[in-house]
Amino acid sequence: MADFTLRIRRYDPESGEAPYWDEHTIDLEPHRSVLEGILQAKARFDGSIGIRCSCRAAICGSCGVRINGQPGLACHTHLDKALKGAKDGIIEVEPMGNMPIIKDLIVDMDAVHWKKVQRVTPWLINKLPVPEREYIVPHENMVDVTQSMACIQCGACVSDCLSMEVDPLFIGPAALAKAYRFAGDPRDAQQEERIRDLAEDPHGIYDCTHCFKCIEACPKGVAPMSQIMRLRRIATRTHHIVDRNNGERHESAFVTLVKDHGLLWEAELLPRSHGGDSFFGKFMPKAALELVDSLPVIAKGLLRRKVTLGKSILPPKDLPKDARAEITSIFEKVDDRGELRELNLYISGYDEDLEGAETPSASAAAGAQGQTSAESGQPGMTPEESPTR
Ligand code: FES
Repeated sequence: MADFTLRIRRYDPESGEAPYWDEHTIDLEPHRSVLEGILQAKARFDGSIGIRCSCRAAICGSCGVRINGQPGLACHTHLDKALKGAKDGIIEVEPMGNMPIIKDLIVDMDAVHWKKVQRVTPWLINKLPVPEREYIVPHENMVDVTQSMACIQCGACVSDCLSMEVDPLFIGPAALAKAYRFAGDPRDAQQEERIRDLAEDPHGIYDCTHCFKCIEACPKGVAPMSQIMRLRRIATRTHHIVDRNNGERHESAFVTLVKDHGLLWEAELLPRSHGGDSFFGKFMPKAALELVDSLPVIAKGLLRRKVTLGKSILPPKDLPKDARAEITSIFEKVDDRGELRELNLYISGYDEDLEGAETPSASAAAGAQGQTSAESGQPGMTPEESPTR
């Protein structure tokens, strides 16, 4: 047994009192969880501490909190590990962010998280006609959606989403990962409709700013931001959706600028995002309006030295020849790829691992490898070669 001090954020909106911190020292074995520590404090010192939990085994997703400022599951965080990230040897536990507090560590998941999940039609709309027996799904497609299926809806990603902090209407990482679970499923009949809807929504897939916070926060390795990027790739590469939010053109502006110059050229980004060839060659009324609108942000960026005027306006300096050649070869490799296949983060391995392999597990790996090969433009197993029922 060892002593651990927990500093718990207390708040009861109904009381009208301001939030405050409460400290309790508990004694438990170091491998026990923070949740067990909170429950001991509740049992021994103060039964009014509010915490939601159920399975205590990282399955139900009920016990999402912030521990030492980081979102996670209280039942899945060992006390000794939490102590390592603690300031002054005190483990701080707070409610998750971006959601209203019901009491102490309990947040209102209905008000934010579940509302957003409902927004993305979180069920399969099956293709017709319904087969006499089961649908046959290519193995790699199933493995691909497995990553989003691993989500336990704990809300840790929502808690730390920076885009949602700025735009509370953003559909958010958890709900968009859920959207990919169905949009990426070959049995779903409405992939294009789903993705068009999320691309056209001003708070949809193009509202994500790639901060990676949701990937770091997720205790299940769902990588919600990667699922959002997949939705975007299907939107642009598969369905060629040119959305009213300018997401597709903005993305393509980034790509063409790097292709043309090897580096990003900020001054060109805005006009190209609006479909123009060049800021200096073509007057783009929409770009000018957006530029005026962005002036306060630009001024802030300059004052904080996040950008410099010279580097933003002037074209980037020529890169060394070998660096340019490397960039060109990356573009060629990507352009030469055939059909879009998604690569799931759960899949690992290399072509050479499979050479001469005949075992069932090798053949399962080969199904997964088909994606890797397709991504890299090399021959690999096709979906038809490795069906999974
Ligand atoms: Fe179920 Fe923590 S109590 S995930």
